[in-house]
Amino acid sequence: LICPVLLCGGSGTRLWPLSRKSYPKQFVPLVGVETLFQTSARRLSGANSELEFEPPVVLTNSDFRFIVAEQLQAIGIDPGTIMIEPEGRNTAPAVLAAALHAYAKDQSAILLVAPSDHVVPDAAEFQAAVARGLDAVAQGKLVTFGITPTHAETAYGYLELAAGSGGDGAPVPLKKFVEKPDLARATEMLEAGNYKWNAGIFLFRAADIIAAFQTHAPDMIQPVKAAVEKSKQDLGFLRLDPESWAQAEDISIDYAVMEKATNLSVVPFGAAWSDLGGWDAVWREGGPDSQGVVTSGGATAIDCQNSLLRSDSEQLEIVGIGLDNIIAVAMNDAVLVADASRAQDVKKAVSALKEKG
Ligand code: GDD
Ligand code: MG
Repeated sequence: LICPVLLCGGSGTRLWPLSRKSYPKQFVPLVGVETLFQTSARRLSGANSELEFEPPVVLTNSDFRFIVAEQLQAIGIDPGTIMIEPEGRNTAPAVLAAALHAYAKDQSAILLVAPSDHVVPDAAEFQAAVARGLDAVAQGKLVTFGITPTHAETAYGYLELAAGSGGDGAPVPLKKFVEKPDLARATEMLEAGNYKWNAGIFLFRAADIIAAFQTHAPDMIQPVKAAVEKSKQDLGFLRLDPESWAQAEDISIDYAVMEKATNLSVVPFGAAWSDLGGWDAVWREGGPDSQGVVTSGGATAIDCQNSLLRSDSEQLEIVGIGLDNIIAVAMNDAVLVADASRAQDVKKAVSALKEKG
């Protein structure tokens, strides 16, 4: 039995105006009819010949708790535990809280930690990769999933494999984990050929990740343990204790543990994966037509190429004529028009608007 842990706390500013602080990208149907959160929960549910999942543990904040509950209910998935973080302290405290909670119920619990904002179209392939990691987990490894890199991305973690291994999809020991390198380093690793991207999905026994925290981030144990032990049931949600939680360091699991751990193992994942980190990725996943155009909602493209046009407003039609390499996204209260090559700069819009107040 595997316990899925869905991380659901980020705000996704590069997908403004669709993704808002109050309603971030994982809850919006960005590609297809279900939201990313829903497809993520579905991917980590049910049973097949090799795997069986428990109801998920979802970690989120107070603002999103009803959206989480409703979106799970809408697709018929038992919510398991919805844990509420009093404030976002990044992924390390969140994962540790889930591990301590699971360990208290079952000392042999196995956790599959996953972000809720990724696109992984082939759920069966993904589950097969998880199954391939289980032997390594039984040997006390912390298993990561490795994506073949296609460009020198600086927003991801990199996994250095022992050279010449990993071809058949079996787990490979990891030599080194490098989180978010600078461009020069990313380019070097891409050219070296024996690196994968970290998919941000982890498989391990609760006991082993707790032990890894004890070794590499010991100061986190006491506050997070207290936050879990003093947590309160509230209308079906489990609220972590705010005073204790505030003492936990604000840091990602990648920096706090993964870069330092020596018992990592990588399962290469060859099927499609995207972290939908910007509108360029939404365009790619949206299936561009022969002209490279993606339209959705009330959007019409006339003689356009290599563009994304979408309206997520019932009141707004959007029409593009003769556009090339443009992203245009309309909402009721905001419209984004950008050069497609500047997709990663959309987060600047959010900061600029914040400054205007
Ligand atoms: N519950 C909770 N609380 N979830 C959080 C918090 C938090 O405080 N902070 C982030 N998350 C969630 C996000 O919503 C997302 O689903 C997931 O945790 C990962 O956080 P990101 O902030 O998106 O991480 P990243 O994309 O910069 O980097 C991670 O993912 C990359 C792949 O997409 C790292 O693991 C990289 O190594 C990896 O390559
Ligand atoms: Mg991310």
